[in-house]
Amino acid sequence: MYSKDDLNKVVLGDARDILLGFPNSFFDCTITSPPYWKLRKYTGETVDPREIGQEARVEAYVLHLLEVFDLVHKKTKHTGSLWVNIGESFSGGRPLGVPEWFLHMMTRTRPWILVNKVIWYKVDAMAESQTRRFSQKWEPFYWFVKNMDTYYFNQEAAKIPVTKVTVERMKYDFKPSDKLAVSRMRGIVGNQSDKIDMYLEKGVNCGDLWAMPTAKVKVKHVAPFPEALVARPLVATCPDDGVTLDPFAGTGTVQRATLKLGGGRSTIGIDLNPPAVEEANELLKEVKLQPGLF
Ligand SMILES: C[S@@+](CC[C@H](N)C(=O)[O-])C[C@H]1O[C@@H](n2cnc3c(N)ncnc32)[C@H](O)[C@@H]1O
Repeated sequence: MYSKDDLNKVVLGDARDILLGFPNSFFDCTITSPPYWKLRKYTGETVDPREIGQEARVEAYVLHLLEVFDLVHKKTKHTGSLWVNIGESFSGGRPLGVPEWFLHMMTRTRPWILVNKVIWYKVDAMAESQTRRFSQKWEPFYWFVKNMDTYYFNQEAAKIPVTKVTVERMKYDFKPSDKLAVSRMRGIVGNQSDKIDMYLEKGVNCGDLWAMPTAKVKVKHVAPFPEALVARPLVATCPDDGVTLDPFAGTGTVQRATLKLGGGRSTIGIDLNPPAVEEANELLKEVKLQPGLF
């Protein structure tokens, strides 16, 4: 059985086996990006049979993901959150609707509660050579909780700045007779427009469309999370002294971001791919030497 002393590393193994070794109601916040179905072979040409994403049928892939998130549910506190960035899978060039399917299964056949369907708009998405459909520029990032009444959310920590230009424009647009302008104004500054300065200082709700570039870190492992994408859920849904988890940790982006944020937070990552685990733990060592950088 793992305890607090075993934290702050990426553990090698199948997420379904390793998670069993943690106490129930242990984690505060899971942020993860599972492998896509049939896109990459993370464990090499002689694929590890436990690798998720290599199933012959997409149905089996979705069920394997659910096995992992069933365990995550058990191991999450009642105040906890789960964030899943899941990409589309294709068969014969046809999108299979995997994110929607996964969402349906998580909320209709499992006890997870959906809070937000965040869109990650990849501002620097690579051009695809598609001739029969539009190329993909975004992915969903689903936010689930265990309990709608008790989940932890620090909205203040994830606010974004309002620019002076925006507020000036809103003031200019504001005509009490114009109902649309009034409601837009209220959306930005609340009911009392004399509080504009306060909103300028504190910022506004960042909304559910997150325009962020893809990861630029120099890691051998493919498809890492961009740290900025992890940072927002982390500050908003992991309290001080909380524990984060990534059951598909890859290069350990969630682990690095958690330790950089500090505040007594700790973290665990799990991955099946030995070279990725080795690299993730090397990168984590560098962060441990330089805390408080975030
Ligand atoms: C998209 S990558 C995650 C990248 C990660 N978010 C990062 O920032 O580097 C998915 C990872 O899931 C791992 N994986 C696949 N099946 C697994 C399983 N059964 N248990 C644990 N990890 C698994 C793969 O080895 C791969 O590293």
